[in-house]
Amino acid sequence: MCGIVGVVGKPARDIVLNGLKNLEYRGYDSAGIYLNDLNGHEYLTKAVGRISNLEDKLTPDEQGLVGIGHTRWATHGKPTVDNAHPHVSEDGRFYLVHNGVIENYAELKEKYLSDVNFKSTTDTEVVVQLVAKIAREKDLDGFSAFKEALKLVKGSYAFLLVDDTEPSHIFIAKNKSPMMLGLGDGFNIIASDAISVLDQTKTFIDLQDGDVADVTKEEVVIENLDGEKVERKPHTLDIDPNAASKGTYEFYMLKEIDEQPAVMRRLSQTYFGADGDVRVEQSIVDAVAESDRIYILAAGTSYHAGLVGKNIIEKYADIPVEVGLASEFGYHFPKLSKKPFFIFLSQSGETADSRVVLKQVNERNLPSLTMTNVEGSTLSREATYTMLLEAGPEIAVASTKAYTAQIAVQAILAKAVGEKKGLQDAKDFDLKNQLALVAEGMQELVDGKEKIDELAKKYLANTRNAFYIGRGVDYAVALEGALKLKEVSYIETEGFAAAELKHGTIALIEDGTPVIALINDPATADLTRGNIQEVESRGANVMTFVGKDFARKDDDVILPQVDYYMSPLLTAVPAQLLAYYASKNKGLDVDKPRNLAKSVTVE
Ligand code: F6R
Repeated sequence: MCGIVGVVGKPARDIVLNGLKNLEYRGYDSAGIYLNDLNGHEYLTKAVGRISNLEDKLTPDEQGLVGIGHTRWATHGKPTVDNAHPHVSEDGRFYLVHNGVIENYAELKEKYLSDVNFKSTTDTEVVVQLVAKIAREKDLDGFSAFKEALKLVKGSYAFLLVDDTEPSHIFIAKNKSPMMLGLGDGFNIIASDAISVLDQTKTFIDLQDGDVADVTKEEVVIENLDGEKVERKPHTLDIDPNAASKGTYEFYMLKEIDEQPAVMRRLSQTYFGADGDVRVEQSIVDAVAESDRIYILAAGTSYHAGLVGKNIIEKYADIPVEVGLASEFGYHFPKLSKKPFFIFLSQSGETADSRVVLKQVNERNLPSLTMTNVEGSTLSREATYTMLLEAGPEIAVASTKAYTAQIAVQAILAKAVGEKKGLQDAKDFDLKNQLALVAEGMQELVDGKEKIDELAKKYLANTRNAFYIGRGVDYAVALEGALKLKEVSYIETEGFAAAELKHGTIALIEDGTPVIALINDPATADLTRGNIQEVESRGANVMTFVGKDFARKDDDVILPQVDYYMSPLLTAVPAQLLAYYASKNKGLDVDKPRNLAKSVTVE
């Protein structure tokens, strides 16, 4: 949430702007850049909206050898130029960008800054004014004043600060918000996400909570708030920068939907040996097998993947599973079982709501596993174990390939644990073969995407609302299909257990209301067909996504047949495509829906 980039030691403007464009998925309601040419000239430019608006505002002479930039997802204060970062202190000395939320900003303002004229209504400006005040009153250099100020600040932050009395330094601080330090030859670079600056360096230091640093072009000095030096080892990120590029696609979302067959194959290669044996780190399998209940915590799409995972894990590992919304669970811990095991599902590995739960899990010394797409992410570092989703960078704000990867990785874990427990169901579950069938099936579905485009054009072009219905695992996919459709097309969509509609919500069905019915469970297929009749007789336009073995010839999308528990991996694909086309056909920015950000690092 919010993206920041800083560069010292190299012409900074284009590096910062390109980095910010790569980070736009973290927020895109306003942006700003501060540049200092180390020759007495400094420039501050901000714009509402996309980075391209900021770019348009910059004049050719605005250049610098030091630069910090920011793309914002508003938390405190509307998206206006004044509220955009960088924020500047009243005396014009300090420039600050921030990702996170300052919890005690009102208190700091009242206690220390009642004489300051604030330009913005943000929490961030309080910090830059505080640094300036401390520097002035205690006659401190910028870095010392920054550290003093940080001792008073409560909340989450990744800060970059420039003091224009020593502009060849960028001072940084991190607590709960991600920040990477990229090391270059004669320059250094700082970013919220390494992917955004991979064209500049592949060597990174992951800063930890409580770290502050003084970065110049030659040197990086990392300390804690008490001024003690801290050692952080650099590592090389072996990611192909092309993996994060759009290639010939108009939108990342479609590229990422299309990549799903390849992700399934990669997962199969990663988690199965040549002999077909499932390979999951033994300590993970042992810890899960010993537990008497699994708690899966996540948010949004990842939560929906957890709902599918519950079905799979209970079936093949025979362990009861509770799935919780992290934001609720964190503050209303239920009575736990005697031997709980926690699984955190998170594409980004940075979701603040999930982190709140993990912190408490760690305080209670309970075992945990993060399933994430981002190696070294916060949730991965802080959990006992990690399993990677191997989905490759996911850039579109709406999650697609990470969702299906999360389902597949939960299945892999379920099989490994079930086999360890000697369960016949798990031994008989030919998951490697299922993943191959899923990959083939996904390919068939993405190859037939025009059909989904037609459905979107026919039924969704002018509708205000829509419904997804399904039973069993299809109910879980209905929730995800609804989220996908509403978040990218702004069509108000709800997912329902098929039979539940008639207990109230059916009142909303009228002539032309689109209803998408998912049918993959042989046990309830006929019942869901009955529910379709109920809505059709009230005027609904029904679209059906149905497993091949019990499909009828007039069904709209016939899904290649796989194991019932694996069927969400296929049902999800037309649901994702439907959302994509509904959005694209309305001329919307599919990858960056309004009000959203990809990595939600505030609670
Ligand atoms: C929706 C979407 C979000 C995320 C949620 C959790 O398409 O992507 O609902 O799933 O914000 O994010 P992660 O998985 O990064 O923890």
